[in-house]
Amino acid sequence: MPNTLDKSFLSRSVWKADLFKGKVVFVTGGAGTICRVQVEAMVLLGAKAAILGRNLEKTEKAAQEIGQLSDEAGSVLGIGQIDVRNVGDLKKAVERTVQEFGRIDYVIAGAAGNFIADITNLSAKAFQSVVAIDLLGSYNTVKAALPELAKTKGSILFVSATLHYTGTPFQAHVSAAKAGVDALSNVLAVELGPLGIRCNCVAPGAIANTEGMSRLSNGVSLKDVEAKVPLQRSGTTEDIAHATIYLFSPAASYVTGHVQVVDGGAWHLGNLM
Ligand code: HXC
Repeated sequence: MPNTLDKSFLSRSVWKADLFKGKVVFVTGGAGTICRVQVEAMVLLGAKAAILGRNLEKTEKAAQEIGQLSDEAGSVLGIGQIDVRNVGDLKKAVERTVQEFGRIDYVIAGAAGNFIADITNLSAKAFQSVVAIDLLGSYNTVKAALPELAKTKGSILFVSATLHYTGTPFQAHVSAAKAGVDALSNVLAVELGPLGIRCNCVAPGAIANTEGMSRLSNGVSLKDVEAKVPLQRSGTTEDIAHATIYLFSPAASYVTGHVQVVDGGAWHLGNLM
């Protein structure tokens, strides 16, 4: 099932169509499922976007498709061959974005890696890879974009998770990484607040038709997961897009150091899989 937004989003959303006009969002993992829809929503609301990914072809294709949602040609730039573990790659991507669009107002640090592995089968290299992508990659993204965010008094959003609130089995690597992301976000909220930069996290629960769900479901059907969620449904990428828009919007101008959980109340029950 396709998991993207189209212009009908504007007629059913509560947001003003020009909310992000003149603004630029810089997104790691922007060609993936959740981050792509975050970008689509921002573009539909007037933003320009630079999306970064490891795979050149996939990133450029996603940028071209998302760009069709904009009224202006050339509103979405795809920058491939970026590994968030390498801060130099990110600095070059920031330069390119500023060359193209003149500024960066918002950063979404969404690049992530994950798989199911119990501790016996989780090699040190595998643990390190996920921590390097999810945590070091988030740090590198902020480091590279910070000079631009300082100019625009911009805002940062990390894509976190709820796995580490409880002991989610077979997720030691990503739980450790995302706990670090939450801690990083809290520190940055305090350090960067005086510069006018806000920093928050969004923590998705079980979101249907995403790479995360297909990697992590561990044989449990979506229907069984949905039956356990207090709100009795799985999340949608659009749910995450709404939280993203809120946290970047002026409605959240006094909100920083916050983790917005979007999971239908599920984490209170512990592990659903
Ligand atoms: C055990 C595994 C493994 C698996 C990889 N490894 N997959 N170990 N079970 N299923 C091990 C490898 O064997 C290797 O260790 C080490 O991880 C590094 O793998 P590499 O292939 O060398 O490459 P690298 O680029 O470092 O790998 C990144 C990766 C990979 C994260 C490990 O899975 C990847 O690129 N994934 C694509 C992106 C992705 O995962 N997206 C998921 C998004 S969803 P050894 O010791 O054998 O050499 C998501 C949701 C998170 O993140 C939050 C959920 C709510």
